[in-house]
Amino acid sequence: MLTAEKNAQLTQVGPGTPMGEVLRRHWHPFAGVDELERHPTKAVRLFGEDLVVYKDLDGNYGLLDRHCAHRRADLSYGMPEAGGLRCNYHGWQYSAEGRCVAAPFEDIADPSGRFRDRIRLKAYPVRAKAGMLWAYLGPLPAPELPDWEPFSWQNGFVQVVFSEVPCNWLQAQENSIDPVHFEWMHANWTKRLRGETEGFAPTHLKLDFEEFEHGFIYKRITADTDETSPLWTIGRVCLWPNGFFLGDHFEWRVPVDDENMLSVSWFFIRLPQEREPFVQARIPSWYSPIRDANGRWITSHIINQDIVAWVGQGAVTDRSLENLGASDRGVALIRRRLFEDIAAVQRGEDPKGVMRDPERNHQVLLPSDHRWFFLDGLPLAEFDREPKWEKLLYHFLFHAGQPDWVKREYEAAAGIRLRELDIINI
Ligand code: FES
Ligand SMILES: [Fe+2]
Repeated sequence: MLTAEKNAQLTQVGPGTPMGEVLRRHWHPFAGVDELERHPTKAVRLFGEDLVVYKDLDGNYGLLDRHCAHRRADLSYGMPEAGGLRCNYHGWQYSAEGRCVAAPFEDIADPSGRFRDRIRLKAYPVRAKAGMLWAYLGPLPAPELPDWEPFSWQNGFVQVVFSEVPCNWLQAQENSIDPVHFEWMHANWTKRLRGETEGFAPTHLKLDFEEFEHGFIYKRITADTDETSPLWTIGRVCLWPNGFFLGDHFEWRVPVDDENMLSVSWFFIRLPQEREPFVQARIPSWYSPIRDANGRWITSHIINQDIVAWVGQGAVTDRSLENLGASDRGVALIRRRLFEDIAAVQRGEDPKGVMRDPERNHQVLLPSDHRWFFLDGLPLAEFDREPKWEKLLYHFLFHAGQPDWVKREYEAAAGIRLRELDIINI
């Protein structure tokens, strides 16, 4: 339970808000590299700010105020040039640092360029990594953009999936430290959605939560496992401050504003050994829908199910009305740490998880019970013998609406045909 005031502190993300300032000390993924190959400008909204990301004719990225400093035209309709983005209204051109490097008529009227030199447009650093574009909206110098070790895994098919979700980022992130929901929301609810009226999944018996440098780890024992299970010995990573690493994929909950977030997921599917060596020429990204044709939430895939929970809690859930129980120990831990982060930033320090040392930012290892499998792989015949790997190879379980062009690219890479399911089978 949180007071309304404390809830506002943790959930508001605009400039100058306590948590907005904490989150601005981190890099955030917000678009696919391939999106700007398809079209070189894109309007984006992050942390309550309307921005435009572009790729210029030199191949460099920029992230600027959405509106031109002249008379506020929409720069997402601007023209990429060598060395920046030009407004389509009167031709003013901006560098990635937000300097106005050309203002064609003003430059004729005032060849000294003094007028133009005074113009500054809001500009943020943007970088490409792992098929995604990442933004840093905090004070300079920017910290390291984490080089997580899975980004260097080989012989896999990677895809990036986005969903626009109409709720605050924190209720999604609290899902990253919530082991018990898997039993109910994914295993048991999916059984009912598939028409099975009897039987429940093995129940959770014991949980543990540990803090480490890059977040928290949760561990679980269920009725069908014991302390030798990788779900107890390795666990899952609540990645600081707004990510989740499940051993085979990452999820991030990126604030758009107080009442909207962008769900960003990075998936690695290990291809059969027969397909090695496989080098992916281009990482595809796509948007997954969250509503069906009748306007109801889609419930057929794992992350869609999570989204039903997040949006169901309200645009910004009222934490003064909740009753935390024993299963919520992790939720309480991350809230406490976020309040400590707020205090650290207010003291002028870095919050938890910010990396400054480039020497240490090289293929940073995170706990994963899938890592041996992803490194070694298996022959195709072995996938069918192990239901867990069969599911990952033959189905895309996580998001509804995988486009046909992504399916075809995947099938060509994997040398198999996807097996379609109306509702996932966990
Ligand atoms: S409004 Fe952009 S150049 Fe005039
Ligand atoms: Fe979930």
